[in-house]
Amino acid sequence: MSIIENHKTVGLPGSKSAKLRAENVNVFYGEKQAIFDVSLDIGSNEVIALIGPSGCGKSTFLRCLNRMNDTIDICNVTGEILLDGDNIYDPRVDVVPLRATVGMVFQKPNPFPKSIYDNIAYGPRIHGLASSRVELDEIVEKSLQRAGLWNEVKDRLHAPGTGLSGGQQQRLCIARTIAVDPEVILMDEPCSALDPIATAKIEELIDELREKYTIAIVTHSMQQAARVSQRTAYFHLGQLIEVNATDKVFTTPEHQLTEAYITGRFG
Ligand SMILES: Nc1ncnc2c1ncn2[C@@H]1O[C@H](COP(=O)(O)OP(=O)(O)OP(=O)(O)O)[C@@H](O)[C@H]1O
Ligand SMILES: [Mg+2]
Repeated sequence: MSIIENHKTVGLPGSKSAKLRAENVNVFYGEKQAIFDVSLDIGSNEVIALIGPSGCGKSTFLRCLNRMNDTIDICNVTGEILLDGDNIYDPRVDVVPLRATVGMVFQKPNPFPKSIYDNIAYGPRIHGLASSRVELDEIVEKSLQRAGLWNEVKDRLHAPGTGLSGGQQQRLCIARTIAVDPEVILMDEPCSALDPIATAKIEELIDELREKYTIAIVTHSMQQAARVSQRTAYFHLGQLIEVNATDKVFTTPEHQLTEAYITGRFG
């Protein structure tokens, strides 16, 4: 049962340059519905922030975008998600390359128990992206540079990734995602385990990455959403209430539920 009868998302959920397009997406965990008829475009080279109270479905929706929900047995997704116009839920789609193209960075940095070098080289090796050691070295260096970590680790590439600080580990995970040549990067509260300085570095990085990638980021920090995103999508009890330019959402939101959330009346 949806909370608002005939609810239609207000604002601008569409984009002329959609990289990803969600159309009428519903998500169920067993009998329980977690996402209600969500349609949203994510534009090329845009950073979109997904915000809303705990349990409103942000992570669930994000996981639809690279079929990560497939890994949850009781989870069932209906509707369509189009990547460059092609439905990623088509049974012929192989999820392994899909999840390289639409990469994901999680809340808690999760480096593999391997060296810094091997954390980055792992993906390119299994996806066959390098034909020689020299090429692999280049991918590792380039990925670490893009993630803003190269200077800090270039002299200790063979030390364990788990020996880095939390903020460095999260940049390592971003470098690992970048190494397999993604087009979209999904981030689920990537800074929630980090201190303000490490957070600032990741936020700066997100802004630079936008030049090359399309990014969707879930965040509980409205300041962070305001700093890194161009559009913001507000979710409430599994519905997409409003999507608008980030500055509009945080200054003159169109929907009363968005306003109640950003003024701290709930959530
Ligand atoms: N694996 C799961 N099995 C069953 N129900 C789930 C599962 N994951 C999420 N849910 C339910 O789906 C709804 C949306 O959860 P989700 O984790 O997507 O919310 P969220 O907005 O990311 O919350 P938070 O801000 O706390 O991370 C919640 O009611 C949650 O209990
Ligand atoms: Mg979540």
